[in-house]
Amino acid sequence: MNLINLKNQTIASQYVATELLKQVKSKPNTVLGLATGNTMIDVYKCLSELLNINQIDLSRVATFNLDEYVGLAPNHKQSYHVYMNEHLFKHNDSWQKDNIHLPMGNAKDVVHESKVYEQLLCDIGPADIQILGIGENGHIGFNEPYTSFDSVTSVVDLTPSTIKANSKHFEKIEDVPKQAISLGLTSIMRAKRIILLALGRHKRDAIKQLLKDDISESLPASILRQHANVEVIVDDEIFQTIKSTKLIP
Ligand code: F6R
Repeated sequence: MNLINLKNQTIASQYVATELLKQVKSKPNTVLGLATGNTMIDVYKCLSELLNINQIDLSRVATFNLDEYVGLAPNHKQSYHVYMNEHLFKHNDSWQKDNIHLPMGNAKDVVHESKVYEQLLCDIGPADIQILGIGENGHIGFNEPYTSFDSVTSVVDLTPSTIKANSKHFEKIEDVPKQAISLGLTSIMRAKRIILLALGRHKRDAIKQLLKDDISESLPASILRQHANVEVIVDDEIFQTIKSTKLIP
């Protein structure tokens, strides 16, 4: 696991966007594993600009998002479908709708939908690059603490802390869905390369534990230490608080 301090949100977002740009430029049929959340907004802004100015043809790029809220239709304002369209897909004409994959949170049978999504990722994937944010409780995707390391895509319950963290995007906390369809930890680990981006003081405890504590299902992100090609990108605010921590090689 390679920990890199990229000082601030701007530099860190530019770095992640540049790695994604290089990937799709060098391999036109790249498979990208994508995340949502506040952390990724600047990444997608920068990526959209870079894709445009480099005139990259995205028609053969496939994308798989990590998750979607159960119960939200793809046109719901707070759905991850809308988030991805607003922040990434609508900014470049060559993204192909058929190659863009997000779980359908409003599927009649969400358990079946999870299985179909997992199978599709197995058929088309693995992701060449998977980008990840991290929850304050160490979740990746919506794999909350004590999710089995063997998990694949499934319907998962969100913890009260995740519901609270995500409530800022909803009018009231009661509106936040209590479940999501999420790639499992095993599904995430199949990616060839993983870039985890963590920004801001509120993420420092999760990153500290990720670097220091044992690999354990109590911190879902700790599974990443078993992956051969993971970068953890942090800002200086996080780095300064963990630099005394004995880093995991
Ligand atoms: C989003 C996702 C989550 C977020 C995490 C951090 O698709 O899977 O794991 O990456 O909750 O969210 P932000 O960036 O809003 O702090």
